[in-house]
Amino acid sequence: MYAVRYELIKTCKQTGARLGRLHTPHGVIDTPIFMPVGTQATVKSLTPEELKEIEAQIILSNTYHLYLRPGHEIVKKAGGLHKFMNWDKPILTDSGGFQVFSLGPLRKISEEGVEFRSHIDGSKHMLTPEKAVEIQNALGSDIMMAFDECAPYPADREYVKNSLERTTRWLQRCKDAHKNTENQALFGIVQGGMYKDLREQSAKEITSIDLPGYAVGGLSVGEPKELMYEVLDYTVPLLPEDKPRYLMGVGTPDILIDGAIRGIDMFDCVLPTRIARNGTAMTSQGKVVVRNAVYAEDFTTLDPECDCYACKNYTKAYIRHLIKTNEILGARLLSIHNLRFLIKLMENVRQAIMEDRLMDFRNEFFEKYYGK
Ligand code: GUN
Ligand code: ZN
Repeated sequence: MYAVRYELIKTCKQTGARLGRLHTPHGVIDTPIFMPVGTQATVKSLTPEELKEIEAQIILSNTYHLYLRPGHEIVKKAGGLHKFMNWDKPILTDSGGFQVFSLGPLRKISEEGVEFRSHIDGSKHMLTPEKAVEIQNALGSDIMMAFDECAPYPADREYVKNSLERTTRWLQRCKDAHKNTENQALFGIVQGGMYKDLREQSAKEITSIDLPGYAVGGLSVGEPKELMYEVLDYTVPLLPEDKPRYLMGVGTPDILIDGAIRGIDMFDCVLPTRIARNGTAMTSQGKVVVRNAVYAEDFTTLDPECDCYACKNYTKAYIRHLIKTNEILGARLLSIHNLRFLIKLMENVRQAIMEDRLMDFRNEFFEKYYGK
């Protein structure tokens, strides 16, 4: 038995989007879902209690960062990541592949793995499929991601082909190294860049290795949005229907909805918390740059339709003041709000799937949020 089991509840008659449940060792998750990012074993500035209050069901953390600091052995000694950070709901960890590749000149790729220098102190390290599994086993996440290579964009065919084939070999090595299958689910990652036949090859190879879930990687790497949707249109149908599908690193409101319509079940993105820290709110009426001077005397809440702690208690004028003076509470209130906004959006998406009206919901949302 795998640690994670996907239960398909129904598909939307209007769009084909999937309503489901993901059963994990730390509880059941409703899908499609947005996962807040807690790179360094914390969703920046929020306590786990606050995450529960906004109804976060699962968070994401990172192998690369936790391996470098504090070190996975220390997290293991603490009793695992859940105990270490006081979060008793599901956790997904990314493998470090993506972060290491983002290091640019600080890394060297070979069949064995990736040699890199720490972005913190320049020290030399090696991540391999086996090492990524060992680290994630020590962290004890419910869902662990395979060690993959995310090809840059643009990249030529030859490069992408070699890279996806190596990603398949690395996946087999991850699976062979992963012993704790009862408690932790390993997900494979489809690569293949923006080439249709290479995506097909990768999807076929990756899904031929039996696993409890699959992700689509290598997207939102600088390509036009239309191209990303094209890739999803021909890739997602190649993934098994009885397993969850995770679109990695993507989670703007439009993509959450249009991704769900294309059959994606899981999303993550640093955007809501990142833009919160520089003074931007996502609201039912679109983006509000609360840092702007026009809000200096605006004593209304961020979003009249939001039920979060920030919207229940504070005005735009006050939050603007906090952001302008670099007060920590400003970033905290906006992070709470933005995450609640996306979590609530996915609640609405699930409700719309249940009622076979996701396309209607989409059109209404786009009109209000983007004015189109
Ligand atoms: N996060 C965003 N994209 C990717 C990807 O392609 N691979 C991994 N491991 N993480 C990601
Ligand atoms: Zn709010």
